[in-house]
Amino acid sequence: MAALTKPGSPGQHGGKKWLDGAVGYEVYVRSFADSNGDGIGDIPGITGRLDYLKWLGVDIVWLTPFYKSPGHDHGYDVASYSEVNPIHGTLEDVDDLIERAHQLGLRVVFDIVPNHTSSEHRWFQQALADPSSPERDYYLFRDPAPDGGPPNNWPSHFGPSAWTLDEASGQYYCHLFLPEQPDLNWRNPAVRAEFDAIYRFWFDRGVDGFRIDVAHGLLKHPDFPDIPQIKPIAADAGPMENFFSFDHIYDLDQDDNVEIFTRWQDVAAPYDACLLAESGVEAHDRLARYVQPGALDLTFFLKPGWMAWDPAKFLRELVGLAEIESHGISWVISNHDQARPASRFGGGPEGRNRALAVTALMFSLGGVPFLYQGEELGSPNGEIAPEDRHDPISTRNETDEGRDVCRTPMAWNTDPFNGFSSVEPWLKAADRPLDFTVAGQHANAAAPLHRYRRLIALRKHHPDLWRAELKVIDSGRPDVAVIQRGTSLTVANLGSQSFAINLGSGQWQVLFASQGGDGDLASGIVNVSAETTVILVPAA
Ligand code: NOJ
Repeated sequence: MAALTKPGSPGQHGGKKWLDGAVGYEVYVRSFADSNGDGIGDIPGITGRLDYLKWLGVDIVWLTPFYKSPGHDHGYDVASYSEVNPIHGTLEDVDDLIERAHQLGLRVVFDIVPNHTSSEHRWFQQALADPSSPERDYYLFRDPAPDGGPPNNWPSHFGPSAWTLDEASGQYYCHLFLPEQPDLNWRNPAVRAEFDAIYRFWFDRGVDGFRIDVAHGLLKHPDFPDIPQIKPIAADAGPMENFFSFDHIYDLDQDDNVEIFTRWQDVAAPYDACLLAESGVEAHDRLARYVQPGALDLTFFLKPGWMAWDPAKFLRELVGLAEIESHGISWVISNHDQARPASRFGGGPEGRNRALAVTALMFSLGGVPFLYQGEELGSPNGEIAPEDRHDPISTRNETDEGRDVCRTPMAWNTDPFNGFSSVEPWLKAADRPLDFTVAGQHANAAAPLHRYRRLIALRKHHPDLWRAELKVIDSGRPDVAVIQRGTSLTVANLGSQSFAINLGSGQWQVLFASQGGDGDLASGIVNVSAETTVILVPAA
């Protein structure tokens, strides 16, 4: 195994210098740009919009899965990891995208789905067709419980049980998501070898890294014990509520997952490629293990993306984690699985301002923050009629509106379908008005788009924001965080009362204020308005 040390100093990610100070941007491939008029986003459409991302100032573009897939979970059910789904383009289109991105100085990160395959993957088809084939042990087949039911009580994220009976053999197979997404057996060395080859296939084509889907789910406890139920489950509980009524001590976040991460790092490091976990782990110390020396470069911290507006809780989560691990975290409040923050935080201008205040704090915590397409516009949730829903969480359960609300097409302009496509998009949603489009905001200097762009640019001009040692200064209020990094000072006042801070003598300059203008620092006392984050540096 290559001796890979990950220096503990901020700003270094396993020696991959290009991650230092970087900002990422998630492209939900189905909904970014449709170049061929079929209503579904595609690779050439994204390539055609890379100039916009360059203008916005981001460094890394993460694309959600575009591989061959029957689409039961919109690409997170992969039938072949090295083939491109024709609805999204061809392998040549992918090569062109990488080439154009690199010409622009952008890095490209793809999405790998190693926890499960599609049930249409040839491995699973072979496993079903011939239970004595090597592929059978690529998956998690188990005998029924003595009563003939599933082997244990594990629920699926998408409801109800994590087990489906293979009638031909009389055994059940495990799936933490849909029955069409059978989980792989990561204790089988052959599965590990298959994925090494998949990584190399794409690294050889020039991709700069991978976001790793369900990184916390790979290994299961070898004995498959029942998991404890921690809450009563209402009869009308949705699948997620059902899932989170259990303590996932045997199906998720097993200690030995880290072995797999270090193996992958050995594959990625010679390419200078990055590995970024999608991990639902909430406990800060557990999450920090994903980016321990030799393991992954980065991990998302997803919890803030599930939270409604709660200032003190946001600060406890964000600052609390940053105090134990800052440079290995990819901070996010939004992605293609989570309701839009502008809506979650109260809607309207208030929701947007709150979202920007939290984002400005995240940009001062080190690591590599990510924005999700449309977040830079302060987009609220899309409006989708119940009969037009696509997300399997809602179409298969009729319990909640699911994730479609954050997957509506990118609103480029006020052309039909907001310039996303020339025909009705795959996900029908009300068109966005001019003020919520890229074109409309581009023309308005006060629009969120320009504020986000300015925030992104700050990290380039003030490396203290991600590089210098992070010190948390006691603000005396649970809803206010004061972070000092080198010369920079970030005051995040998420509370509903303004907050005054005395900066003492010396001249300061407001680099960024999530609301309002550039502030007035004449007296040395800075009044930070309610629900506002301000970033200051000494005046030059
Ligand atoms: C997380 C992905 O972000 C989500 O969209 C998907 O449904 C699950 N993993 C299962 O792959």
